Amino acid sequence: MQLTVVDHPLARARLSRMRDERTDNAAFRAALRELTQMLVYEATRDLEVAEEPITTPVTETTGYRLASPPLIVPVLRAGLGMADTAHGMLPESQMGFVGLARNEQTFQPEAYMASLPESLVGRHVFVLDPMLATGGSLVHCCTLLTDRGATEITVLCTLAAPAGLERLEQSGLPLRVFTASVDEGLNDQAYIVPGLGDAGDRQFGAV
Ligand code: URA
Repeated sequence: MQLTVVDHPLARARLSRMRDERTDNAAFRAALRELTQMLVYEATRDLEVAEEPITTPVTETTGYRLASPPLIVPVLRAGLGMADTAHGMLPESQMGFVGLARNEQTFQPEAYMASLPESLVGRHVFVLDPMLATGGSLVHCCTLLTDRGATEITVLCTLAAPAGLERLEQSGLPLRVFTASVDEGLNDQAYIVPGLGDAGDRQFGAV
């Protein structure tokens, strides 16, 4: 697993706004969108480009486009707030969706929705989930993707806990992780500390 911490003054400022309990839902969503731009920008830095001839108003030159735009997969519900921004920056990409819930008998994550292409062979997938806490649901989500043939998965999260990173590392999945911060740890309710609370509630309200 490859880890990149996007440590930039603008990223710190947006993340601080998200952490602040006084930030309302709308301002939280705005900061998440702006931080997502920074994560996508860094995570796409090494994507392959294809050349194509273009004509400017002045002359002919070489233009570039992404050779294989990645499939974008937000994890419901908290990943939804990152989806539109990521799609705006990767307009040729397709988007799939994964919805995960905890099975109250086994306490394990289960997919209640996996709207994904049948085959992901040869596809690069960008998974959007703001919070990497224990890593359980992300491992479950990424296993759904590798079961369909994905061999390269990039996870974009605003915050990561060391335990979640360790779990992803141990999974042996083909992952790159981009985050704005590796926080101190988890509390006894598996919330990231210092964290920002429940990323779904902070975006959409506690429903
Ligand atoms: N999910 C969240 O939304 N917040 C956390 O702190 C941990 C998991």
